[in-house]
Amino acid sequence: MPTNEKRTARLLDLRAEAMLGGGLNRIEQQHARGKLTARERLELLLDPGSFVELDAFVMSRSTAFGLEGVLGDGVVTGHGTIDGRLVFVFSQDFTVYGGSLAEAYAEKICKVMDLALKVGAPIIGLNDSGGARIQEGVVSLGGYADIFLRNTLASGVVPQLSVVMGPCAGGAVYSPAITDVIVMVEGTSYMFVTGPNVVKAVTHEDTDAERLGGATTHTTISGVAHLAARDEAEALDLARRILSFLPQNNLSTPPRQQATDSRDRAAPALDTIVPDDPARPYAMHRVIEAIVDHGEFLELQPGWAQNILIGFARLDGRSVGVVAQQPSVLAGALDIDASAKAARFVRMCDCFNVPIVTFVDVPGFLPGVGQEHGGIIRHGAKLLYAYCEATVPKLTVITRKAYGGAYDVMSSKHVRGDMNLAWPTAEIAVMGVEGAVNIIFRDRIAAADDPAAERTRLVAEYEAQFANPYAAAARGYVDAVILPSETRPRLIAALDMLADKRDSNPPRKHGNIPL
Ligand code: HXC
Repeated sequence: MPTNEKRTARLLDLRAEAMLGGGLNRIEQQHARGKLTARERLELLLDPGSFVELDAFVMSRSTAFGLEGVLGDGVVTGHGTIDGRLVFVFSQDFTVYGGSLAEAYAEKICKVMDLALKVGAPIIGLNDSGGARIQEGVVSLGGYADIFLRNTLASGVVPQLSVVMGPCAGGAVYSPAITDVIVMVEGTSYMFVTGPNVVKAVTHEDTDAERLGGATTHTTISGVAHLAARDEAEALDLARRILSFLPQNNLSTPPRQQATDSRDRAAPALDTIVPDDPARPYAMHRVIEAIVDHGEFLELQPGWAQNILIGFARLDGRSVGVVAQQPSVLAGALDIDASAKAARFVRMCDCFNVPIVTFVDVPGFLPGVGQEHGGIIRHGAKLLYAYCEATVPKLTVITRKAYGGAYDVMSSKHVRGDMNLAWPTAEIAVMGVEGAVNIIFRDRIAAADDPAAERTRLVAEYEAQFANPYAAAARGYVDAVILPSETRPRLIAALDMLADKRDSNPPRKHGNIPL
């Protein structure tokens, strides 16, 4: 029988071995690639000393093709805290068989996901893996499916964040893809369903991992990822910041921060921000930053579908999701990508009890054969559907144009907007002045002695009647017309009023959002 001293020594030896993952050489290789180890990443992500590891001694049961068991089996799992709040984590360890996912490895991830669902806490996955562990065959595929199922069941119940810090290829991409937010590290991470070699063989296209699925590609072209970080530390910091805007689960509310920015702070610069010329853009970021606490706006997907802005901010310490047109890109028109981008964000806010503040300056849906053939009807419907079904407090500020169907879509009163405000510069109409006059007064203009003068007169007449917020205000479609400088206190007062809002949708299995 071993003595207790020997037993203790054995435990300490095993612990030390587990800490090394695939061994010192591979840790050095990982560092040489400019990457941190799975454990170093967790240290940066979590509050100091808060990590509690589970299953450090789990090992693969397979010996296929010379596989040798490694303590932990290539993934570090457990729980810890971020800003004192409980989170569950898994961190893939590239030093063990390239971080490849196998049976025991998947079971470890599933265990923390199950725990997270049981206690209602967020899940953060740090991805750095060569995909399915080839030696374990179909068992690895089953392990992925077990994780996908849990990602899906956890969706809308607890926040799920993915940080991609190395390869994430093949079907493995679908776990991050189901989660709420994906952060990628520039230069060292990539995601694709089939890699450059397969692409070359099938389509004869020449590409490389970075161009096919690097952080820049996924944050500017595909829209798969929400943020690109310059390095791993920044990526992990972004994950912490994103989480600070979200609640622990769908039954709780986001943490309210101590607000030091005055509730009543006016923003006089906004009174002159909208140009007289309706065709001239202005910086919507400046509008948002002038209104939210300390001007802090954590924008998501800033490089993709830039005609719409989405992201998190705070008003009097309360977390809000911001959706806003960007007049300087496509005049803020809604196109396919903008609709899909904003729709998913609206749904994320609604899942997690984050009130939505919408700034509207929309000339309509983007015209064009490409848009129609690409399915702008189907994709635009996503955003309409998302706003209609959302039951969180919905605050709307019409800064300038709110034309046509896009007026309805953008959190209008008719789709259960709770507080709809308009600036005096708002133009709420079926369409822009020029287009409207050309259609409804075409004959009159053509028959006039001086068609140009007649047109100018009719434009002025139409503008006076329709290109303003008062027709809508007269019907209660906007609750108030306010000075732009008053927007912050008005929104904060609305959030106070709506703090205990109760609203619901009819009971059903689930709706059928046009996907
Ligand atoms: C087993 C793997 C592995 C894998 C890497 N390794 N991927 N072992 N299964 N999937 C091992 C390597 O053999 C190597 O071990 C070590 O990890 C480090 O890998 P390197 O190739 O030296 O690293 P690097 O040059 O950085 O290349 C990383 C890589 C490459 C691009 C990820 O390893 C790679 O292409 N791996 C295979 C990727 C793949 O095809 N996976 C299956 C995809 S299909 P040694 O001992 O030699 O150092 C899939 C289906 C999922 O994942 C389906 C879900 C539904």
